[in-house]
Amino acid sequence: MASRIWAHLIVALLGCILASCLRVCYSDSDSRRSPISPGDRKYLESLSLQGKLTFENTTASAKDWGQLRRVTAPAVVLHPTSVDDIATVVRSVARLESELTVAARGLGSSTGSQSQARNRIVVEMTSLNGIMVAPSGDSASNGVPFVEAMGGALWVDVLKASLEHRLAPRSWTDYLYLTVGGTLSNAGVSGQTFRHGPEVSNVLQLEVVTGKGEVVQCTPTENSELFFTVLGGLGQFGIITKARILLEKAPQRVRWMRALYTDFATFKRDQELLIGSAVTKSFDYVEGFVVVNNENVINGWGSVPFVRSEVSEAMIPSSAGPIMYCLEVTKAYSTADLQKLDDVVESMLAPLSFHRELLFKTDTTYFKFLDRVHELETQLRSRGLWEIPHPWLNIFVPASAIDRFDMLVFKRLVTHEFNGPILVYPVNKSQWDKRLSVAIPESPEEIFYIVAFLRNKLPDAHGGPSLSSMLEDNEKILRICEPLQCKQYLPHYQDRSRWKRHFGIKWETFVQNKQAFDPNVILSSSQNIFSRRRGSKFSIANIAHGQSQDE
Ligand SMILES: Cc1cc2nc3c(=O)[nH]c(=O)nc-3n(C[C@H](O)[C@H](O)[C@H](O)COP(=O)(O)OP(=O)(O)OC[C@H]3O[C@@H](n4cnc5c(N)ncnc54)[C@H](O)[C@@H]3O)c2cc1C
Ligand SMILES: *[C@@H]1O[C@H](CO)[C@@H](O)[C@H](O)[C@H]1NC(C)=O
Ligand SMILES: *[C@@H]1O[C@H](CO)[C@@H](O)[C@H](O)[C@H]1NC(C)=O
Repeated sequence: MASRIWAHLIVALLGCILASCLRVCYSDSDSRRSPISPGDRKYLESLSLQGKLTFENTTASAKDWGQLRRVTAPAVVLHPTSVDDIATVVRSVARLESELTVAARGLGSSTGSQSQARNRIVVEMTSLNGIMVAPSGDSASNGVPFVEAMGGALWVDVLKASLEHRLAPRSWTDYLYLTVGGTLSNAGVSGQTFRHGPEVSNVLQLEVVTGKGEVVQCTPTENSELFFTVLGGLGQFGIITKARILLEKAPQRVRWMRALYTDFATFKRDQELLIGSAVTKSFDYVEGFVVVNNENVINGWGSVPFVRSEVSEAMIPSSAGPIMYCLEVTKAYSTADLQKLDDVVESMLAPLSFHRELLFKTDTTYFKFLDRVHELETQLRSRGLWEIPHPWLNIFVPASAIDRFDMLVFKRLVTHEFNGPILVYPVNKSQWDKRLSVAIPESPEEIFYIVAFLRNKLPDAHGGPSLSSMLEDNEKILRICEPLQCKQYLPHYQDRSRWKRHFGIKWETFVQNKQAFDPNVILSSSQNIFSRRRGSKFSIANIAHGQSQDE
């Protein structure tokens, strides 16, 4: 008996050593899997479902884009084939006197293991991926076209289905292999956000399975509390099983342009000018990024033109410092407009003050433009550089603080070894309904900047900074952000006081909605905002005052 225990211990120990070498543990051995009591398992097995529950080999459901910490494989994975499957499991878990919790998982594109670990039951949403286009809308939408996509549908498929009717959603993310439910639980931002708001501002209706296991339809006017709290709600209030998304007439083609600046103040003035212009005179997409003044790095000036040989060192103005800035815009057109396009674009660029010799253009289809990151993905995958750790950090910076942010962060911390793009572009708050759960800067000004540090931890053979120093840089940036009243986007925090500060004026409502829609605290617990404990009643008073339930 004793020797068997020793044997188990040694195996477990070896497993741990191996796991720490691998940094991220996807081992499916029992020691790395969340436990589930035989009673709970039996109960779950007795449920009548159309899809299936698996208890073994659940490793694939623990994958996470960030690869920043060890992940415990879930105890149970639900592959639903109907909304009822999800409702049945959630309802049953809510009733159990147990610590079991449930989290929806899209593609695990998060960087803080938000869709796994302590959740025990992971719902693989991608098995619910139906898409229906209503090209003439319906009476509720006043004839405005919409697409109805299930929570696990990928945005790239939503786009393809819509394009068959020459229609397309208006607001996007930079990358389309993300799920509808996953991005709507955050915000969904990109270069269209300045005009149409984030993806969450383009939803007409949702179907949600709440934490009580009820299937609820909600719109901005019907069950509106649930509607707004779920959008940007980090999976805390319900599982999005269906979303109706507004469509517009799809552009055929786009002219895609990048223009280089050496001076931040000029870059900023032009970006803000562009997002404030009248719709008829404005570009359709406005982003920008920080460029390191060096050809031979990932985010160096060689990455600015569409064909690398179009720029050479001799073209970089001698006044340029170590950091430059690139504006990125598009103008949609149809082949019939092609004749006038040069003149139209010329007049739109006229008021801007970029370096005229450092303007680059390309023409492509609307689909290829929106799907641009996927092309990069294919290249990186072939070189083994896609599934690597991603210590990403996304920040919303108030416009009044962006100059300081440039001084303290871009100009000081961005070095030749940054190893990833740094996006920076402004948006207008008026497109973000105050009732949405997503936290944005609370200062009264209308404009804030989206800043994304999308660093890659390259394999050691490539050299470059260690993962821990990259994570330290992120902490440094967050400390700089605090007095600037920034908000983290795609946030992850470990303790409740930081979550409380994150949600700020929205915290109290957030807690109240948690009590209303997930009173047993069973949804997306690895966000570490609320936690379920056996036998403990949800205490709104304790939580609202920032006391942790975890101790
Ligand atoms: C290469 C890449 C590029 C990206 N570019 C952008 C960008 O340009 N703009 C942007 O805004 N974001 C971007 N993201 C981030 C992306 O929006 C988030 O990762 C988001 O979480 C979507 O990922 P997912 O669908 O895999 O969801 P997951 O990461 O699996 O889930 C995220 C969270 O939402 C919850 N959740 C998932 N599905 C549901 C559901 N149906 N109902 C309720 N809760 C759910 C999960 O429990 C989890 O807490 C990018 C990510 C990657 C990897
Ligand atoms: C475990 O799951 C993966 C995919 O999720 C599959 O490829 C593999 O064959 C499975 N292994 C076993 C032993 O079932
Ligand atoms: C923000 O949008 C609102 C509403 O469209 C508009 O009135 C305002 O001028 C915009 N603010 C700026 C600074 O562009």
